[in-house]
Amino acid sequence: MQTETKKVALVTGANTGVGFQIAKSLADNGYIVYVGARNQEKGGAAVAEIGGQSKAVQLDITDLQSIDAAVTQIQSEAGYLTLLVNNAAISNAGNPGRTMEEVLGAQRASIAPIDEMKTVWETNVFGTLAVTQAFLPLLRKAETARIVTVSSALGSLTLNASPANPYRSAFDAVYGASKTALNGIFLSLAIDLESTNIKVHLVSPGFTATALNNFQGTDTVEEGSIEPIRVALAEDMATGSFTGPANYAGSDNIVPW
Ligand SMILES: NC(=O)c1ccc[n+]([C@@H]2O[C@H](COP(=O)([O-])OP(=O)(O)OC[C@H]3O[C@@H](n4cnc5c(N)ncnc54)[C@H](OP(=O)(O)O)[C@@H]3O)[C@@H](O)[C@H]2O)c1
Repeated sequence: MQTETKKVALVTGANTGVGFQIAKSLADNGYIVYVGARNQEKGGAAVAEIGGQSKAVQLDITDLQSIDAAVTQIQSEAGYLTLLVNNAAISNAGNPGRTMEEVLGAQRASIAPIDEMKTVWETNVFGTLAVTQAFLPLLRKAETARIVTVSSALGSLTLNASPANPYRSAFDAVYGASKTALNGIFLSLAIDLESTNIKVHLVSPGFTATALNNFQGTDTVEEGSIEPIRVALAEDMATGSFTGPANYAGSDNIVPW
């Protein structure tokens, strides 16, 4: 552990969408922010727009060499990490240019192509955990640290088990269930790290118009990012939380598992 003054954050998939909004807000609030992007040019463009103390880091969360290089860069430049925001994800691995309805229709459990499902889980589940494990040594070097993982209310088993939920047909095996798996793994991590300096939070954005859903979300990216930004900035939340916008959650923002 070392005494630091500056808060240092890494946001994965921060070149666009919700991740960009989170990175911008952290920079606006005085963090040194590493803007993770698998495409270096897009990362550079995002940093130019975010300004403050933001820096680009090439990071493909499915590529162990890329993860190792990102750890080495942040270790040598900052020496520790205060906040890891696991934001990067994909919604499908099939033909691009499909509507959200076409994607969801093709990803029903009865017919989902297993290879596409593995590709999505490789990013959303295994890649996210691999990044987290790789950055644990740097998180342990901070006085106190947090891991905020962007999940989805769509991954809630409680919400989807209820026939009263009109949106449960959107709970597909490829994307929705990947978020359920992510929730399970990160709750397990919260329990694992309970006696350490590291807190673990899961958070859902709103249904936000981004590339992930062919821009069919009903919230603007600024609206949809409000709860992820709140959680990314909050230092006083109890570990093991899963929160989301009040329309999915209660007025306390708690999403049922
Ligand atoms: N939009 C919604 O309604 C909604 C609702 C619930 C949860 N979420 C969650 O919110 C998070 C952000 O999604 P978004 O809506 O902002 O989507 P988005 O605009 O498509 O952004 C996704 C980001 O992840 C990056 N990414 C994808 N695969 C990657 C990989 N292997 N390595 C590194 N980066 C990778 C993308 O990079 P490229 O630009 O290079 O593709 C992009 O920067 C995701 O976890 C998503 O599941 C979104």
